[in-house]
Amino acid sequence: MSQTQIAPLTPVLTDLWDVEQGWKLAAYEERGGYRALDKALGMKPDDIIAAVKDSGLRGRGGAGFPTGMKWSFIPQDIPKPKYLVVNADESEPGTCKDTPLMMGNPHVLVEGVIISSFAIRANKAFIYVRGEILHVIRRVQAAVAEAYAAGHLGTNIHGSGYDLDVVVHAGAGAYICGEETALLEGLEGRRGQPRLRPPFPAVAGLYACPTVINNVESIASVPSIVEHGADWFASMGTEKSKGFGIFSLSGHVKNPGQFEAPLGITLRELIDLAGGMREGHELKFWTPGGSSTPILTAEHLDVPLDFEGVGEAGSMLGTRALQLFDETTCVVRAVLRWTEFYKHESCGKCTPCREGTWWLVQTLAALERGQGSEADLDLLLDQCDNILGRSFCALGDGATSPISSSIQYFRDEYLAHLTHGGCPFDPAASTAWA
Ligand code: NAI
Ligand code: SF4
Repeated sequence: MSQTQIAPLTPVLTDLWDVEQGWKLAAYEERGGYRALDKALGMKPDDIIAAVKDSGLRGRGGAGFPTGMKWSFIPQDIPKPKYLVVNADESEPGTCKDTPLMMGNPHVLVEGVIISSFAIRANKAFIYVRGEILHVIRRVQAAVAEAYAAGHLGTNIHGSGYDLDVVVHAGAGAYICGEETALLEGLEGRRGQPRLRPPFPAVAGLYACPTVINNVESIASVPSIVEHGADWFASMGTEKSKGFGIFSLSGHVKNPGQFEAPLGITLRELIDLAGGMREGHELKFWTPGGSSTPILTAEHLDVPLDFEGVGEAGSMLGTRALQLFDETTCVVRAVLRWTEFYKHESCGKCTPCREGTWWLVQTLAALERGQGSEADLDLLLDQCDNILGRSFCALGDGATSPISSSIQYFRDEYLAHLTHGGCPFDPAASTAWA
């Protein structure tokens, strides 16, 4: 699944993906796996937190919150258990990095879980894996079992006196359970719906106890930081977005897949690594971080793919799910598809999102059929305004991003549907909605 390693790729997390049975403990240990754990167990927990802070690692689940800072929020002076929860409920449309990571190198995640739990003084950790990907759940369960058998997990790990138990939990298949507080509700056995924040999970999370929730890729980056040092990690990436990350390219490129590269790489460079756009076609629009981030166009090929660069271009880095669409794609139809997804996945807790996403689909579908008038474009933007910033969680806001950005860049294409009396594109010529 990973590509041939060409500069400027930085294969750390993807190192074992192409190795036969690279997911097994033996392969991981042969490459030095679990050495960082030994080093970490000889450190003070606060020194590990400091190293993660100094590395500049920012949350790889999409929001980019500084990981070490999040860990430092865990209160150590209250007599309550602390928990680590790994958010492996990867579901953002186009996002495909945690899933191959858990398949290709589950032990780097397990080692990261142990070091991170030790740092925050947790004795119990949960890996919450998206329920639909049973093969991944089994792969992670097998890695956890191997780690127990080898003494990397359980009681008195490596003779250090530190104990940790890890539970691999299967979600039940709802996009909203990737939202951290809905995930906690699900883990506690309730219907997955977001909780009010604050309090943030760091203060009152699982069972109302201090809880660190981090994305798979964030936790999997920790062993390399401990082993090679904060400066090594911080030497990659850009000034405020340090290190490397997995970029997933999908859509109309010759060789879609995952590319592990320093933050700040551009889409132009990534397309080169992916062999170019498909023959005879040109990039029309793309998502930097899945469909809940505003779309960008060919004008933005040289934007540095880091938190700041993508933000300045009017979008968000998000999950680095780069979905590329060429000129055969109807942007209205693609946006309608995404909006239908958000409508379906809205948990129903708050009115702006529950009702609003339904209305967005009605208005968009009519426009896509060529029904209505130009005023319906303003109506659509008005509906977005009534959802954005008024929803209980990020799902509602995210649903509006592709709509408002596509009208900003492709208003004429929306209008062409009205003058044409339907989609001006020949669906047979595009694979975008195949
Ligand atoms: P957020 O910015 O509200 O929070 C990010 C993290 O920082 C959370 O863990 C939160 O608890 C923590 N945090 C923020 N302020 C804090 C404070 N004052 N004290 C303690 N902790 C604090 O972002 P949110 O809503 O958690 O996530 C939104 C992001 O999720 C989007 O940017 C999107 O890219 C991403 N996303 C990822 C998906 C995936 O499949 N990986 C799916 C959908 C969205
Ligand atoms: Fe649920 Fe949507 Fe409201 Fe989030 S924004 S709480 S998903 S209804």
